[in-house]
Parts: sequence; C-alpha cells; structure tokens
Amino acid sequence: MVKNDLITLIRDKRAQIAVIGLGYVGLPLVTEFARAGFTGVGFEVDKSKADQINQGRSYIGDVESALVKELVDSKKLQATTDFAQLKDCDAIIICVPTPLRKTKEPDVSFILAAAEEIKQRLRRGQLIILESTTYPGTTDEVLLPMLEETGLKLDQDFLLAFSPERVDPGNPQFQTHNIPKVVGGVTGDSTEAAAFLYSHVVNDVHSVSSARVAEAAKLLENTFRAVNIGMANEMARLCYALNIDTWEVIRAAATKPFGFMPFYPGPGIGGHCIPLDPHYLSWKARQHGFDSRFIGLAEEVNSRMPEHVVQLVSDGLNDDRKAMNGSRVLLLGVAYKKDIDDVRESPALSIIDRLRSKGCEVHYHDPFVSEVRFDDAHSHGNGAPLTSVELTDQEIKTADCVVIVTDHSQIDYRRVIELAPLVVDTRNALNGDLRKESAARIIRL
Ligand SMILES: NC(=O)c1ccc[n+]([C@@H]2O[C@H](COP(=O)([O-])OP(=O)(O)OC[C@H]3O[C@@H](n4cnc5c(N)ncnc54)[C@H](O)[C@@H]3O)[C@@H](O)[C@H]2O)c1
Repeated sequence: MVKNDLITLIRDKRAQIAVIGLGYVGLPLVTEFARAGFTGVGFEVDKSKADQINQGRSYIGDVESALVKELVDSKKLQATTDFAQLKDCDAIIICVPTPLRKTKEPDVSFILAAAEEIKQRLRRGQLIILESTTYPGTTDEVLLPMLEETGLKLDQDFLLAFSPERVDPGNPQFQTHNIPKVVGGVTGDSTEAAAFLYSHVVNDVHSVSSARVAEAAKLLENTFRAVNIGMANEMARLCYALNIDTWEVIRAAATKPFGFMPFYPGPGIGGHCIPLDPHYLSWKARQHGFDSRFIGLAEEVNSRMPEHVVQLVSDGLNDDRKAMNGSRVLLLGVAYKKDIDDVRESPALSIIDRLRSKGCEVHYHDPFVSEVRFDDAHSHGNGAPLTSVELTDQEIKTADCVVIVTDHSQIDYRRVIELAPLVVDTRNALNGDLRKESAARIIRL
C-alpha cells in the first residue's frame, strides 16, 4: 500500500523531500526538513537562487546562511533547476507564487507549471502536497485530473493533499516548527501520510476531512485579517474626522478580556497574501453565483488608505502654508511591514506615486530596501527606480514632511522628531513619551 510504504520511508528518515519554489515559504520549509534529518531537494526556475543555496548562502531573512551552508556541506540539502530529479523524491511539496491577473482573477499558472513538471515524472509511491494559497477546489479539480492523466491512480499509486503555509516573515517568535499546520488530503490515506510527514518538522498538525476544507481555512484566515484591518482603517478615518486618537481607542477596547481582538490601521495592506488571497475566495464564490460583500468592502477601504495618507501630508503642509507641489517629502520605510525587505504590493509604492503626481519631491530611507522599481501602475517617476537615501540629519531637516510608512525597529525616531518640522505617523511608531518631547508637529493616522 502506497500510504504504508511512504510512512515507513518517512519514519526511517529515508524519504527524500522535494520543495518546488524556494521563496519566502519554500526555503524555510526545505531547510526545516533537512534539519530534521531528511534529504531535502529544492527545485527552482531561478538559477541564481539555486546557485546561492548550493554555495551555502540564504537570500531569505528568516533562514540563516550558516544553517544553509551546514546542511549543504552535510549533503542534507541541495537546490537544482533540473526537474528530472523529481523522480527520486518521495514527497513533493509545491510552494510557488499565486498572484492575481490584472483583472484580479486567480493566476494559477505557476501551480500548473509545477504540476506539469511533476506529471512528466510521476511514479508509484509519491506524495504530492500543494502549499500555495489558492481557491477551494484547486487540488481536487485541477491537480488530481492532471496527475491521473498519467494513468496512475490516487491511493493505489500516489497520494495528494493540500496544506496551507502560514509563515510570517520577520516574526522571530513563530517559525515553521511552532506554527500549527492544517492538512487536508484528497483521500484519507493522503491526509494521513501528509500529516505524518509534517509531524516531523511541525509541533502541531491539525488534519481536516478534505483538501477543500484546508484550502478554505487558509482563505478564511487571510480574509479575516483583510476584513478586520479594513474595519480598523475605517475607524482610523472616522476618528481623524472626529479628532479622536484612534490608537488610544483601540488600546482601551483591547482591555476587554473576551470578545475583542485588536487590529490596527495603517497606510494600506501589502505583501503577497492579504491583498491578494481574498480575491481567490471571491472569484470562486462568483463562480457559484455568490457575491462576497465583506471582501469587496474591505478591499475598497484598504485600497483607499494610501490616498488618505497623502491627504494627511497635504493637510500638514497646508497648516505650514506650503503647497504639495515642490515640497520635499521623506518616507521612512517602503517595505510592506516592519523589519523585512519585501515591497510586494507595498502601499509605499502607491503613496510615492500619488505624492509625485502632486509635484512632491520624494525621497525614502529603508534599511532593508536599497531600491524600489515602479511598474506601469506607478509611473510618475518615468519608470526610474528610486534609491534609499542615508538618514542624515540634513536629510531629515530639509524634508518639509517625514512620513513613517513602515515602523522598522532600527530607526531612531527620537532623532527624527527632534529634526523634522512635520511628521505623519501611519504606524503609531511615535509612542506617547516620544510625542511629548517632540519638536516636530505630528499627525497620526
Ligand atoms: N510570503 C508569505 O508570507 C506567505 C505566507 C503564507 C502563504 N504564502 C503563499 O505561499 C506561496 C509562495 O509564496 P512565497 O512568498 O514563498 O513566494 P516567492 O515569490 O517568495 O517564492 C516563490 C518561488 O517559486 C519560484 N518558482 C516559480 N515558478 C516555479 C516553478 N514552476 N518551479 C520552481 N520554482 C518556481 C520562484 O522563482 C520563487 O523563488 C504563495 O501561494 C503565497 O500566497 C506566502
């Protein structure tokens, strides 16, 4: 029986584990398997990433180069662009991107490309697991028929499951091993084998009755965040209009020990998950004639936050009798969240573009991001990349307005408020004591 054979291979750590896609999700996962004593093979289309891993270098903040080097040197880990090696692997985990098309419809082409590579080499005894976030039904309706086109049969020959990734880049408290993992197989055998595999690298595995439940659970988690952040953002705009301190309101509400969970406003949502994943759910809902209104509303509120931030800058400059046109604005942080280098979907890009469209001269400083590039949607700088400036006293002093877009820990905010004339704080980076000492005028979201 395929399941029993796989379980024996996994128990004896003889199973070879393939991870397709060595990004924020795949690289930590394959290193975790290698660290647990398995042989881990990472498959990449980007040769430079595969080369870096094989040279013992990590390009992901949460994975240390020293660990990668140790695992590569001990032959527990290797990366390759040669998909022929998939045949030697017993479990194959897909961690490729799942972006949206311009029409905001799911783009599962990366999953299909990875599945095609697997299909060409599928053999009896393999366990295939999809981790990429996607709409409910992808594993059953898309992957299974593709794999069965080989003539091999589910359960008799191979197993298939979905297990969503929950990695939180830059979070030192929660890493792969201590984030509980949901696993849903297309069949009971698939669930059992996949859950057994993950139990070697994750403390707590939660099995569910189907791949669809696991797919939907991931989308619920991310939609929950998008909707609640939307609610916090709406509250922030409302409080701004009423001249009430939003952050103090949230702090007060959060003292309730039950029935409340604090979410915080910000300059807009970013990253590869929260802005995109809810669209996977609403797209699938539309296929079934269902209109998911919360998702639409949250997206509307969240996507207007960059515009609101620009309004705060404009209001602040106006109070100083200054026009946006010709004013110098310094952004602190362009990454979508603190202490990481990821600018995917970052609201900073939209804020920069909007400020430039009003004639502002925009500079930014981000200790993690040396350069940002603009696509067609962010075109007011003629497509030229913008480079991070050094945070000198002169840079802060000469800015008409400093905007804290990302609250990176290593920025000296005290120095910023000593030197800047006007600061727009979108992250509550300036706590109460700092604000009391401030020479700068501060506008908070
Ligand atoms: N980044 C996160 O915080 C996070 C959290 C939870 C879930 N996810 C989900 O995990 C998935 C992967 O996200 P990520 O952030 O790791 O993406 P990423 O862009 O960092 O990494 C994906 C990698 O896959 C590679 N790739 C693309 N097509 C390939 C193919 N056919 N074969 C081999 N490699 C291929 C890319 O070169 C890239 O290195 C997405 O579905 C995402 O929604 C991400």
